[in-house]
Amino acid sequence: MCGIIGAVAQRNIVPTLVEGLRRLEYRGYDSCGVAIHVDGELKRLRSVARVAELHHQVESLSSFLGIAHTRWATHGAPTTANAHPHVSAGPGIPIGGVARRAHIAVVHNGIIENYESLRDELKASGYAFESQTDTEVIAHLIDHYYQGDLFEAVQAAVRRLQGAYAIAVFSREEPHRVVGARSGSPLVIGLGSNENFLASDALALASVTDRFIYLEEGDVADLQLGRVWLADRNGQPVQRAARRLNAFSNVVELGPYRHFMQKEIFEQPKAIADTLDQAIAIDPLLYGEGADDVLHGIERVLIIACGTSYYAGCVARYWIESIAQLPTEVEIASEYRYRASVPDPATLVVAVSQSGETADTLAALRHARSLGMEYTLAVCNVAASAMVRETRLQFMTRAGVEIGVASTKAFTTQLVALYLLATTLAKIKGLLTAEDERAVVRSLRHLPVAVQSVLALEPNIIAWSDAFARKEHALFLGRGMHFPIAMEGALKLKEISYIHAEAYPAGELKHGPLALVTDQMPVVTVAPNDQLLEKLKSNMMEVRARGGQLFVCADADTRIEASDGVHVLRLPEHYGDLSPLLHVIPLQLLAYHTAVARGTDIDKPRNLAKSVTVE
Ligand code: M6R
Repeated sequence: MCGIIGAVAQRNIVPTLVEGLRRLEYRGYDSCGVAIHVDGELKRLRSVARVAELHHQVESLSSFLGIAHTRWATHGAPTTANAHPHVSAGPGIPIGGVARRAHIAVVHNGIIENYESLRDELKASGYAFESQTDTEVIAHLIDHYYQGDLFEAVQAAVRRLQGAYAIAVFSREEPHRVVGARSGSPLVIGLGSNENFLASDALALASVTDRFIYLEEGDVADLQLGRVWLADRNGQPVQRAARRLNAFSNVVELGPYRHFMQKEIFEQPKAIADTLDQAIAIDPLLYGEGADDVLHGIERVLIIACGTSYYAGCVARYWIESIAQLPTEVEIASEYRYRASVPDPATLVVAVSQSGETADTLAALRHARSLGMEYTLAVCNVAASAMVRETRLQFMTRAGVEIGVASTKAFTTQLVALYLLATTLAKIKGLLTAEDERAVVRSLRHLPVAVQSVLALEPNIIAWSDAFARKEHALFLGRGMHFPIAMEGALKLKEISYIHAEAYPAGELKHGPLALVTDQMPVVTVAPNDQLLEKLKSNMMEVRARGGQLFVCADADTRIEASDGVHVLRLPEHYGDLSPLLHVIPLQLLAYHTAVARGTDIDKPRNLAKSVTVE
């Protein structure tokens, strides 16, 4: 988490830094700051408010060299003293509020695990610390190794770091140079003409360039005006290919929407259609070269993911087991990576992630490989991500950039990808007839239209959201493959409205949670017209009998009628195996409009960040 940016140019780079921060704010927004080179000095400004506020502080400034940061706090509270950039003025020299004589400035994304021992060592050498962060040791360590060449000093310093880092650094003594380094956290170079940039992601630099170099693990980069020089983890000069990316137009514009989350909910028909564009037939080639052999060789599936992506995996388990008849496990990545499990090399390990950078999912993937499971597949939304680079097979969802912290269009496109996986595996196993395949493709093709018709129910959801906004607790019920949809609905609600919400498989209600049900605890029920409908209706009666208020998302033909204490939203049609994709839409809208009614910061909910690149 945290977003970093750096720039060296022959024009004022302050607006570029601020615009970059605005685009990186999704990575964390506890505080922000910039350090720039002005009149031979290093000038630093920091704020615990948002980037918009920092903008007012810096808009009158001008500089050709600088770095900037937006923070998701790990070590130390979100205070000005802990905000980046962190600086070093050398041993024995105390630093004031404005770092007039500081000469090294650093911004950092990641966690330095050995920062305590490094801090003790640096303190013993006379360095004074002004923050509680792990990052400050990097600034002093670079200063410690500095002998007139920043690139060499950074190379020496990062050799001492354990943990994860992406950093951007400059020195007061070298006004035409920014140095970056990465290991475990993403960093990309933006190539300009006689100017160069660094950032946590390419989107941050889309206003200044469309040519990018993605750094590899352990790389250190030296950016000057007309040249970029790279060294690999062994200090050897290395070339990395530059690529052109220009698909960023309008992604950071809200258009007619109030929030990015709302925009992204309404982009789902297009995101699904774009994702399906690559799938004209059910074919192993969808997963890349060599997929045919890999998918023929597997006997089971293990899905690893976090948060919303984990719930997509939970739905997929129902599909893969019922359609392809392959045993499937779904594990929360942070649990799997630390658990003694029984590896089977004939397992397809599927990492599901919007960002492709989630630290726990990446580590779980590496853990699976270390156990000898080499058949790996990433279902991911970011082509240049570590997960895509580190897996044998890939399926790219084409949701487009997702900015709202609450994941919406990434989820539904992941479901599309995983449904395609289930049907592909079924086809390989001879379980999908030509007629079945045609039906699958037909139903996928119609999906964007079906999603659109559920989105049209927004006014009915707005009517519900008033009641929810006044509650502090909510229960979500579902059965079968709609239980993960209930979990996703509960996660969405708690994440952005701060209402405590829990999800249960409806059959589990009477084994405990029924005790919670009162008229103050709305019970959202996901009610598709599937084989479990009658069982679900009995569970709903149990709730009503205790005075619970039911809010039911029901397919048109379920014969569930509105009555006292029973509110019904009618979905246009039952959509068979793909029904979870329709049923999640009202729950996304419910969370969104409840949060609007409560006045929360929807796109940047408290304590969270979009990309969780720390453990
Ligand atoms: O980028 P990823 O899909 O790996 O992210 C996983 C979770 O951090 C993410 O889905 C998170 O739970 C969302 N904020 C939920 O809306």
